[in-house]
Amino acid sequence: MRMILVGPPGAGKGTQAARLLDRFKIPHISTGDMLRAAVKAGTPLGKEAEAYMNAGALVPDSVVIGMAIERIGQPDAKTGFMLDGFPRTKPQAEALDVALTKAGVSLDAVVLIKVDDAFIVERITGRRSDPDTGAIYHLTFNPPPVEIAGRVVQRQDDTAEACNARLKKYHAETAPIVPYYRDQGLLKSVDGVGSPDEVTERISQALS
Ligand code: AP5
Repeated sequence: MRMILVGPPGAGKGTQAARLLDRFKIPHISTGDMLRAAVKAGTPLGKEAEAYMNAGALVPDSVVIGMAIERIGQPDAKTGFMLDGFPRTKPQAEALDVALTKAGVSLDAVVLIKVDDAFIVERITGRRSDPDTGAIYHLTFNPPPVEIAGRVVQRQDDTAEACNARLKKYHAETAPIVPYYRDQGLLKSVDGVGSPDEVTERISQALS
């Protein structure tokens, strides 16, 4: 299975990817996670990306495309992958198509997790993650267990201000890839409002 999860910030892409991995046994490739790891490690790529990310802007295509295509070419992604957060511009989608065609493979599905803007700020500002395991929590909707609560952290771009900037970027630059994939017959739209279990069930149904 070669698939993409698309949706606005806070739609639940990372949450759902973690739940779907057992079923599909494919690597979860999140460009956001890769960029945050580069920032943490202080690599040249991380240094270039950090200011864009903290401001809620997109990291330039020239930086992200090479990083993502290189990752997809690694051995564990030969038989499939779940992309999360890539592509998120039309040039990224086109670059992915070129790379997959060159490799003689194609996408199976693009899942759009739809969540209205009205829900997003609360989801984003309440998000916390476990730095040890990467598990995603929410202070209200999915509170961390007591033994983990003391060590959870908040992402630097999870402020209301950066969240609004990310939403604007989503509508301006990422939403246009939705019709691109719909025209290719790959798009599966799923309602992302409801419990995480309900959303997982909807995605599973859409993919079956
Ligand atoms: P990235 O990490 O990809 O962030 P994003 O797309 O904004 O998505 P998020 O990770 O914020 O949300 P999510 O949909 O995974 O939601 P989650 O499951 O955590 O990118 C970060 C930055 O990196 C970008 O802004 C950009 O600068 C840069 N970048 C990355 N890729 C790039 C690219 N390709 N090109 C250019 N720049 C790039 O859920 C959110 C919260 O809601 C959690 O607390 C969760 O517990 C809760 N929640 C989840 N599901 C539900 C539910 N059903 N009900 C209630 N709460 C829920």
